[in-house]
Amino acid sequence: MTTSDTLPRDGRASAEAIGSLIDEFAQMSAGGPGVTRLAYSPLERTAHERFREAMTELGLTVETDAVGNTIATLLPEGDTAASAAAIGTGSHLDSVPQGGRFDGIAGVAAAVEVARLAVQDGQPRRRPWKFVVFAGEEGARFGQACTGSRVIAGLTTAADLEALTDGDGVSVAAALLELGLRPEAAATAVWDAADWHAFVELHIEQGDVLERDERAIGVVDSISGSTRMRVHVEGRSSHTGGTPMRGRRDALVTASRCVLAGDAIANDPANEGTRVSVGDIDVQPNSITTIPGVVTFTVDIRDIDGERQRGVARQLEQLYRECAAENGTTVRIEQIGDTSPVSLQAAVVDVVEQAAIALDTRPLRMPSGASHDAQQISHIIPTGMIFVPSAGGLSHVPDEFTSAEQIARGTDVLLAAMRRLDAQP
Ligand code: HGY
Ligand code: MN
Ligand code: MN
Repeated sequence: MTTSDTLPRDGRASAEAIGSLIDEFAQMSAGGPGVTRLAYSPLERTAHERFREAMTELGLTVETDAVGNTIATLLPEGDTAASAAAIGTGSHLDSVPQGGRFDGIAGVAAAVEVARLAVQDGQPRRRPWKFVVFAGEEGARFGQACTGSRVIAGLTTAADLEALTDGDGVSVAAALLELGLRPEAAATAVWDAADWHAFVELHIEQGDVLERDERAIGVVDSISGSTRMRVHVEGRSSHTGGTPMRGRRDALVTASRCVLAGDAIANDPANEGTRVSVGDIDVQPNSITTIPGVVTFTVDIRDIDGERQRGVARQLEQLYRECAAENGTTVRIEQIGDTSPVSLQAAVVDVVEQAAIALDTRPLRMPSGASHDAQQISHIIPTGMIFVPSAGGLSHVPDEFTSAEQIARGTDVLLAAMRRLDAQP
């Protein structure tokens, strides 16, 4: 493990330190291919504790809020009153099942490196600098993404935490209690916008635009929203040999037609920019000689245009019901997540772009196809995002890759942007 006093003091982010911390986080996994560190799991807390240790070692004060967000604070020299509005950076440490080593983690490693540089270079700071690890960013377990940052932004309440459940029926609230956290006190985790000046998140792109354009830095100006539904199809199980084709009520035939209907809608030129995916499906009884009687699947609808995103969701609900009626099955549709697309505040996007240009990185302004904590935070605080390239555009898979050097260059831009934001009146 690289400790802060063995690192170069040239004022530039250290790829070695970043790579070393990313390697440490990657070990915190439930096993199997890639990284599995699910939202509101003990492993996610272990990763937050490593972040806490790194920040405490640098002399920052660290607190964990009622719903598991961890926040480290670096006050200006001699200003214990923390009078000026804060600036912040950070990301998440939870992952999807069999995910990559960089999604979220790159932004946290960058935050730790910015804190090290800010502490060591002794340059004056006017504002409190806050470094945040948001809990429960991935929607893979509970459906709704960005739960920790949504609580901070006042978009998710204690009641919501009771209602959001995983595939085993465990609620976010129950998972938080299990971890010794306090879901009933979620309201105490909400940030007061008056305490904040700006927030910037560094994240891997999770697409291939930067790589194709041979750019080192993306300056994100908008972030896609997502509407997510869990669809229960009910038909009738029966013997695959004895049951004639006429009169079957095959739940998997219905579900398969629903999947293809979503794909057709997203590929309609009128819906350019909409993405519809079915990522998980459960077939019961899942036996070669029994017609499936019950099928459950989830659908993820992404768009940069909120109206179109929700319009496609309504259209799909209608289509699912029609498919079921034609197959003699029934569908029950649960909405399990809904996040609006956002345009990030130009004042912060411009600062990020100027910082990137000043470091001669030929930045590219671009939308984000993925959702992010920054999206939620932008509802209460002027927010920007920095992208670093994803090899082959891959993410949410073990092959996800961004080099430590690429993250270090993004971290240099992040530090430069924070210094510019710190200096603003
Ligand atoms: O699913 C997403 O867009 C993000 O990776 N949570
Ligand atoms: Mn992420
Ligand atoms: Mn992700």
